[in-house]
Amino acid sequence: MATIKLAPQLEISRIVLGIWRLMDWNMSDQELLTYLKQSIDAGVTTFDHADIYGDYECEAAFGKALQLDPSLRSQMQLITKCGIKLKSAKFPERQVKYYDYSKDYIINQVEQSLANLKTDYVDVLLLHRPSPFFNPMEVASAFEDLKTSGKVNHLGVSNFTPIQFESLQSYINEPLVTNQIEISPAQLEHFDNGNLDHLIEKRISPMAWSPLAGGSLLNPQDEKSKRIHDALKKVANQIGESDLSKVIYAWLLMHPSHIIPVIGTGKINRLKTAVSALDTQLNLEQWFEIYVASLGENIP
Ligand SMILES: NC(=O)c1ccc[n+]([C@@H]2O[C@H](COP(=O)([O-])OP(=O)(O)OC[C@H]3O[C@@H](n4cnc5c(N)ncnc54)[C@H](OP(=O)(O)O)[C@@H]3O)[C@@H](O)[C@H]2O)c1
Repeated sequence: MATIKLAPQLEISRIVLGIWRLMDWNMSDQELLTYLKQSIDAGVTTFDHADIYGDYECEAAFGKALQLDPSLRSQMQLITKCGIKLKSAKFPERQVKYYDYSKDYIINQVEQSLANLKTDYVDVLLLHRPSPFFNPMEVASAFEDLKTSGKVNHLGVSNFTPIQFESLQSYINEPLVTNQIEISPAQLEHFDNGNLDHLIEKRISPMAWSPLAGGSLLNPQDEKSKRIHDALKKVANQIGESDLSKVIYAWLLMHPSHIIPVIGTGKINRLKTAVSALDTQLNLEQWFEIYVASLGENIP
């Protein structure tokens, strides 16, 4: 299975499994362990978490499964995120959802994630969202401590603009490894707001969250999704495929910025479909057919 290098000491799978929807999968610890093993066997070895997923429950559920076979840890790469403070019954004192990137909070959240995930380290820590109250010096100091103690190996960001990325980068003494952003045929924003160009310039591979637009492209309800669905069907017919999700993954994977899809399925067959998209080729005209269908008008 293909991998991709995000840093000299960091190689992750070309397809990443996102764990956001884990609590919807209704799996026992043993079933989740089986799913993780099947995923690794299929070549998807990298798992994307956040402290807040499942109202703060997904990391612990994953950790319980991992505890059943701790030897799996050395075969996987774990990504987690911090920075968002949800309003939650678990934190009754919180009056409002807000972002916190203070040094103490970052370190505390990472330690909490490690305890939940039943691991000593994460391969990558992402700052979940940019904040209007952001102090890169606090982040730099937190990362330095976490790196020195071996708790976090690499730092990246999510949903950042190029300016926010570069501002943080100027305070961190090693390269940020990725920017995880929303990219799908339904979400074209980053193709023309400079974000992908910035990452290409920096030789940094973006991670794409919700690559199937949360599944809505397979079950289109609105006009735009229907247009995209029709274009996907047309391209699928041309290349002799019946699974539209495979066309979407191939569309993302072929982009020169080396987009890494973060897929959200709880079903092994669908995960394997994503892997098989690595061998599916679209031509440039087919890529634009899908792009233009999403725009709803011809490009200039
Ligand atoms: N950084 C951020 O701000 C951010 C934000 C959101 C998400 N994320 C990350 O991105 C990951 C993926 O997001 P996502 O779950 O929205 O991704 P997605 O892959 O676009 O959507 C997954 C959903 O689509 C369904 N699906 C998959 N294949 C399908 C098919 N062939 N037909 C119909 N439905 C299908 C899945 O259901 P089944 O399980 O039934 O297959 C699941 O409900 C998350 O787990 C998380 O790690 C990051």
